[in-house]
Amino acid sequence: MTTTRTILITGGAGFIGSHVVRLFVTKYPQYRIVNVDALTYAGNLENLSDIDDRPNYVFEKVNILDTAEVKRLFDQYQPDGVIHLAAESHVDRSIHSPLDFVYTNVIGTVNLLNEAKRLWSPHPASPQGEGVSPRFYHVSTDEVYGALGETGFFTEETKYDPHSPYSASKASSDHFVRAYHDTYGLPVVISNCSNNYGPFHFPEKLIPLFINNILEKKPLPVYGDGLYTRDWLFVKDHATAIDKVFHEGKNGMTYNIGGFNEWKNIDLVKLLCKLMDEKLGNAPGTSDALITYVKDRPGHDRRYAIDAGKINRELGWKPSVTFEEGLALTIDWYLANAVWLRNVTSGEYQGYYDRQYGGVV
Ligand code: NAD
Ligand code: TYD
Repeated sequence: MTTTRTILITGGAGFIGSHVVRLFVTKYPQYRIVNVDALTYAGNLENLSDIDDRPNYVFEKVNILDTAEVKRLFDQYQPDGVIHLAAESHVDRSIHSPLDFVYTNVIGTVNLLNEAKRLWSPHPASPQGEGVSPRFYHVSTDEVYGALGETGFFTEETKYDPHSPYSASKASSDHFVRAYHDTYGLPVVISNCSNNYGPFHFPEKLIPLFINNILEKKPLPVYGDGLYTRDWLFVKDHATAIDKVFHEGKNGMTYNIGGFNEWKNIDLVKLLCKLMDEKLGNAPGTSDALITYVKDRPGHDRRYAIDAGKINRELGWKPSVTFEEGLALTIDWYLANAVWLRNVTSGEYQGYYDRQYGGVV
């Protein structure tokens, strides 16, 4: 088959990136998809074992901080699209090691922007020829907007007000992407999405950590009073939104992506406990007994909630599954993939977990 586009997807071995790579490789056999990933603790090629023999898929183990290697990728593959997901993504880690987040999330993003600018100048020439417009798509988070009170939603006009080192680094990278659009005319698009959940989610984030801990009969560490609110979206719905924004979004625009699906942490944890007990054949209340309130996360944002009206109106995107359906699919996936869970919770990750919670829970 003739290749019509070449797209670099960074962070493709991570949680969301692996779903985006899978979607693009299977839906667009005419595209060449180059997965660029450093394989940090959060990246795992097992996440892509079902598609890694496809002829339109290439893996490149490259750290986006390595400018010579990033240049090589742009020279060698002449991409006309970049979908940038590579990042340090965990708020708790950012509190312990903020510089790692500055390096990858800010400097790594600018390295990619520089190469896209070099390859695609003068804009809007495309290395793939007539008819294909190059595009740099930066995947970001709703956490850049800061925290909401009891009411209201983040819109695309909400002022940036990041509080954690993670969200500060993502906000900074968003600003650089816009600056390259405004200063150099780089064709960019950005989306800011709410909390994702689903298969291949690394078990340091709330939902997969708690599934893992229930399976291992370990305490479930709920931060603070547990009344913090997040807006949850099934990861495959985020991937379809990314497909829409990449192909149909307008240059220079931002699109908020969310599930209109707010949950207070403690309510979500209780639902998860109930579903897990049902699936595992436990007596009701077995997993609830593992809930342990622990010291709060410093700078913890009280509430996130996305107004996803713009992407719905302009691009016709909406989530395909309810939270109850998505959560049931997710639990079933973790129960069926015990080997994956065991593999990713061994080694370096286990050390991190013990250091952070060893004395608390
Ligand atoms: P993840 O931590 O699961 O995966 C990140 C991937 O990036 C890993 O495969 C890792 O190996 C790779 N990576 C990290 N540093 C790298 C470097 N220097 N060079 C090359 N590769 C590197 O993250 P995720 O949850 O899949 O998030 C993906 C993106 O989506 C991030 O940009 C994140 O900010 C954003 N996002 C995440 C969520 C969420 O709920 N997880 C919500 C909104 C936006
Ligand atoms: P997390 O999954 O880390 O995502 P984010 O911080 O990016 O929103 O956390 C989701 C919510 O769950 C957040 O309010 C922090 C809380 N949380 C806990 O209460 N206990 C935990 O062990 C973790 C990881 C998170």
